[in-house]
Amino acid sequence: MTHTKSREIRLKNRPAGLPRETDFELAEVELAAIGAGEVLVQNIYMSVDPYMRGRMIDRKSYVPSFQLGEPLDGGCVGRVIASKNGPFHVGDYVSGMLGWREYFVSDGQGLVKVDPARAPIQSYLGTLGMPGLTAWAGLLEIGRPKEGDTVFVSAAAGAVGSVVCQIAKLKGCRVVGSAGSDEKVAWLINEAGVDAAFNYKKVEDVIAEVGKYCPKGIDVYFENVGGVHLEAALEHMNTHGRIVMCGMISMYNATQPVPGPTNLAYIIMKQLTMQGFIVIDHYDKIQQFYSDMAKWIAEGQIKWKETVVDGIENAPKAFTGLFKGENFGKMIVKIGPDAGDQE
Ligand SMILES: NC(=O)c1ccc[n+]([C@@H]2O[C@H](COP(=O)([O-])OP(=O)(O)OC[C@H]3O[C@@H](n4cnc5c(N)ncnc54)[C@H](OP(=O)(O)O)[C@@H]3O)[C@@H](O)[C@H]2O)c1
Repeated sequence: MTHTKSREIRLKNRPAGLPRETDFELAEVELAAIGAGEVLVQNIYMSVDPYMRGRMIDRKSYVPSFQLGEPLDGGCVGRVIASKNGPFHVGDYVSGMLGWREYFVSDGQGLVKVDPARAPIQSYLGTLGMPGLTAWAGLLEIGRPKEGDTVFVSAAAGAVGSVVCQIAKLKGCRVVGSAGSDEKVAWLINEAGVDAAFNYKKVEDVIAEVGKYCPKGIDVYFENVGGVHLEAALEHMNTHGRIVMCGMISMYNATQPVPGPTNLAYIIMKQLTMQGFIVIDHYDKIQQFYSDMAKWIAEGQIKWKETVVDGIENAPKAFTGLFKGENFGKMIVKIGPDAGDQE
């Protein structure tokens, strides 16, 4: 084995509010030699995702909390560089859940081979990965959009939101997106093909703005943000509308309880369905997801943006950037060389 050391990011403090870089530490560990049935993977890309903020809190949830002094984990794509595990060969690209470190030894559990011919490997952390599946399953299974419906999407230029917008367009819906910069708004209209989009940071009244762009009301609201966006959606939902509760990022760093929307009673008056979901429940449909996405990507119907931050030491900064809108599309950290880099 040629590689004996690996750098990793550990949680140093449980953050209060927006995480600071001092809440993390970079450490170096010795790698164990691989044994029978094991593989050594060199990570090339790792994902930073909003849900990781919840894992930094010591509480019971659908996924275990990160432990102080321990490396973080999360989605990653890398290359097998040594193998004593039959199905995995040196040079195979794999995705797994041991990000935030440069190398890892695995017995193969949780490792999935990824096909670089279908799409660039880092897209298995975004459009072809967990965020893409979240968009596909959340919109189609919970939002159940019908042709002609108006679909409103918050954080519309993000990893999940941008895919939701484009799938909704493919289903014949009128799509309205909200995003935090003029550049994101322009991309949504000119590249993603939404019918209307606005920069929520520049408008005085989000509720009025949503009404302006959704003159026939909203049939499906895909919730990524919470706060005033949810209040605006409730205000303009049509009778029997569906609210897909995917995420509420505006609350993730709150240090005090956040007040709920003042107009929740619309759920009764408008006979709305508001349903939360976690993507983990939808991995049994991943082949259908791949098949839909591969077709749409080949037809040029799904486009995406990525913000790639270089270097494992910059992963905490990339992570906190999610809460400041510093990512355009999927936020990814490049932590190892890809084949092309070595030429
Ligand atoms: N339920 C599930 O299984 C599941 C799975 C994946 C993701 N999610 C959720 O889906 C949402 C989107 O995740 P993602 O991975 O696609 O992230 P993302 O949208 O790529 O990145 C986060 C974006 O949220 C926006 N944002 C941050 N703070 C905000 C605030 N205070 N108010 C309004 N917007 C804010 C920023 O965009 P702007 O520039 O537009 O402000 C930022 O770029 C998150 O809430 C996440 O927790 C849920």
